[in-house]
Amino acid sequence: MTSTQTIRHYLKFQDFSADDYNYVLERTRILKQKFKNYETYHPLHDRTLAMIFEKNSTRTRLSFEAGIFQLGGHAVFMSTRDTQLGRGEPIEDAAQVISRMVDIIMIRTFGQDILQRFAINSRVPVINGLTNEYHPCQVLADVFTFHEHRGPIRGKTVAWVGDANNMAYTWIEAAQILGFKLRVSTPPGYKIKHASILKHLELVEETDDPRAACEGAHLVTTDVWTSMGFEQENEARKAAFADWCVDSELMALAQPDALFMHCLPTHRGEEVSADVIDGRQSVVWDEAENRLHVQKALMEFLMLGRLNH
Ligand code: CP
Ligand code: NVA
Repeated sequence: MTSTQTIRHYLKFQDFSADDYNYVLERTRILKQKFKNYETYHPLHDRTLAMIFEKNSTRTRLSFEAGIFQLGGHAVFMSTRDTQLGRGEPIEDAAQVISRMVDIIMIRTFGQDILQRFAINSRVPVINGLTNEYHPCQVLADVFTFHEHRGPIRGKTVAWVGDANNMAYTWIEAAQILGFKLRVSTPPGYKIKHASILKHLELVEETDDPRAACEGAHLVTTDVWTSMGFEQENEARKAAFADWCVDSELMALAQPDALFMHCLPTHRGEEVSADVIDGRQSVVWDEAENRLHVQKALMEFLMLGRLNH
């Protein structure tokens, strides 16, 4: 069991330094290679991961569950539908209890404040598996995917086209830490909320023109117009976001070898056209697979620190 003095959580992208990311990305490469070679590697033998879901998931659940298993450990799936969390047990109490029985915890929930309250009361590392504000594991996979296809992301230009959601806010943090330019294009009324954060970020530009965002970009990325928890806004959002669809015309403005990414799940014909997501520039399946590899490196790093093998 990890001692309270040394626990590190991963609640937002900013929780790691550029140097930590260099290490985790290199570990990801090594662990992915071991996986492709069918090499048994069980550094987390007998360790248990609790996965708490307050929202739906396919990729996050599967990649964490398969990942801990491949590292020699075991996963326990918990949802608010069938635990006492769904009946109002205080998050602080749940954190105290769960963290006495397992070695690491992943949570997908609503507000970031819930995750923070859980982490403060946890004896073991806590990982953000998506909140309303952030989705750091996904952007970690996206950065690794960019590295695999095009090399380091430092100095490159990324275009975010769509909602100012958890993915957009995580990309903003990533730009600052990893040193790439980020152009965020959102419709009027759906802009980045904390305008103050943009003032401090010379690498982030905001525009209401998706064409301007994509011009010369090395990576174009988007996400659903309506995130989980905001379903009641769906119809209004469909109208407001109609011009924020990544189609072949927008992609043509980016670099000729620009990549397209989407965290998935997607709505073809809304935030992205079918020819783009299924086209030659799209790396969405690698991006999804890489959730598995980056999270194995992340769990290994949080539980065992830096290794040399
Ligand atoms: N991208 C992502 O987090 O997918 P899931 O919602 O399926 O976990
Ligand atoms: N922004 C989306 C991401 C889903 C993986 C949501 O929060 O629903």
